[in-house]
Amino acid sequence: MMNSATYPAHSYQDRRTRLETYFDRTASKTWEQLTSDAPVSKIRATVRAGRDRMRATLLSWLPHDMTGLRLLDAGCGTGALAVEAAKRGADVVAIDVAGSLVKIAAQRAPRDVKIEWRTGDMLDPALGRFDHVVAMDSLIHYRPFDIVAVLQGLTERTGGSLLYTFAPSSPALEVMHKVGKLFPRSDRAPAIEPVRERLLRTLVASAMPATSIGRGERVSGGFYTSQAMELLPQ
Ligand SMILES: C[S@@+](CC[C@H](N)C(=O)[O-])C[C@H]1O[C@@H](n2cnc3c(N)ncnc32)[C@H](O)[C@@H]1O
Repeated sequence: MMNSATYPAHSYQDRRTRLETYFDRTASKTWEQLTSDAPVSKIRATVRAGRDRMRATLLSWLPHDMTGLRLLDAGCGTGALAVEAAKRGADVVAIDVAGSLVKIAAQRAPRDVKIEWRTGDMLDPALGRFDHVVAMDSLIHYRPFDIVAVLQGLTERTGGSLLYTFAPSSPALEVMHKVGKLFPRSDRAPAIEPVRERLLRTLVASAMPATSIGRGERVSGGFYTSQAMELLPQ
C-alpha cells in the first residue's frame, strides 16, 4: 500500500485540474440538466433521486436556524445546497473550480438569498474561517490521502462540523474499478475513487487527532451510492 511518504504531492493538483476541465467544459451541460427539473434518462433519474436524498441528509445535520453562521459549500456545483443553507439564514460562501457551474448557480439562485459565489479551490486560505463546511460529492474523485489532506485543511478553518461524502468501496466495486481502468474512457470523466470506510476512519483518526467522527449515513439506490460522514471538533 502507498503511504504518505511515497504518495505524489502533486496528486491533488493534478486531479483538481482534470476535474475543472471535466465539470467546466465536458460535463457542464449534463450537470446543468441533472441538477434541474428537466427530464433525464431512467439511469440519471436514480442519480438525481439519490443526490436529493443525500442533500436532505446533510442539511438535516446542520442547525435549523443558521442565522449569523458562516457556511462553506465546498465544490458547490450548481448551488442547490448553498441556496438551502442561505434560506436558513447562513452567510454562505459557495466555491467551485468549475466557473461555468458557478455561473449557472448564481443565475439560478433566488434573488432574496445572499450567497458569495466564487470560482476557485475550496482550500483557498483567503476564504477565511467557517462555522460549518459541507463538501457533498466534491471529494469522490480524489484518492484517500488527498481526501484526508483536504479534510485536514478544511477542519483547520472550521469551528463546528465538517460534512462530506465519499464513494464507499466494497471488494466487488474495487474489482470493477480496476477492470474499468484497463479500458479507454470515451467521455474523459475522471474516475470515481471508491474508498474503504475503515481505511478512511484510520487515516482521519491519525491525521486529525483533535477531530472526532460523528454521524454517518450511506445513500444508495439505482446508479447512486455515496456515504456521508460528519467530522466534529473534540
Ligand atoms: C460531483 S460534483 C458535486 C457538486 C455539488 N456539491 C452537488 O452536490 O451538487 C463535484 C464538484 O466538486 C468540484 N470540485 C472538485 N474539486 C474541487 C476543489 N478542489 N475545489 C473546488 N471545487 C472542486 C467540481 O468542479 C464539481 O463541481
